[in-house]
Amino acid sequence: MPPVDKQASSRTADSTRPMPAANALADAVEFFKAFLGHPRRTASIVPSSNRLIERVARQAKVGEAACVVELGPGTGGSTRTLLGRMGPRSRLLAIEMNPAFHAHLCRHIPDPRLRAECGSAEDLAEHLAAHRLPAPDAIVSGIPFSTMPAATGERIAAAIARCLAPGGRFVAYQWTPSVAERTTPHLGEPRQEWELWNLPPMRVYTWVKPS
Ligand SMILES: C[S@@+](CC[C@H](N)C(=O)[O-])C[C@H]1O[C@@H](n2cnc3c(N)ncnc32)[C@H](O)[C@@H]1O
Repeated sequence: MPPVDKQASSRTADSTRPMPAANALADAVEFFKAFLGHPRRTASIVPSSNRLIERVARQAKVGEAACVVELGPGTGGSTRTLLGRMGPRSRLLAIEMNPAFHAHLCRHIPDPRLRAECGSAEDLAEHLAAHRLPAPDAIVSGIPFSTMPAATGERIAAAIARCLAPGGRFVAYQWTPSVAERTTPHLGEPRQEWELWNLPPMRVYTWVKPS
């Protein structure tokens, strides 16, 4: 067994502990404000439910992954849930386009496994290289493919298919099927299920890149 970094373990435990209600409310208010400023990019009025992200984490098998990427972490509720299911030596790269959300994430999740980048999912390869991270075993996405230009969605889907490790999983949650329209030409037909315990209910798509 490799030696355990006790300091890192305790920081990890802190960042993944369930949020106090006051912090969850503050996150929800910040999220709603972002929705008012950028409704198409934020795409939701409240953060995702824990039930939805637990399902996403299971489908992505983040507990077995050495490197996970989250596209569109928002205020970080989903990020905390993913970190809570990941191993102590794994890495999570969170790429968020909204600078206010990115700053919030850096301030509130001091987990040594987390790398947070402010930028677009389109530049996935560059963000991975900037942190010297390997090809991810899992990529998780809550970004709104339905409200972005089709060409942008196409570039993001191509980048995901290119960067994912062979045998790796791409799991995307969305109300509409637009992410599947962009991704299926690159990764084949997904598995699809619904999570009803979320506002609104979400489709959860899973692709596995051929080995
Ligand atoms: C529906 S919210 C999901 C937030 C959080 N993951 C959750 O589940 O509660 C979508 C997030 O994706 C971000 N986003 C939208 N387009 C993006 C892009 N091209 N690259 C990175 N983030 C993006 C938005 O700023 C927003 O934070």
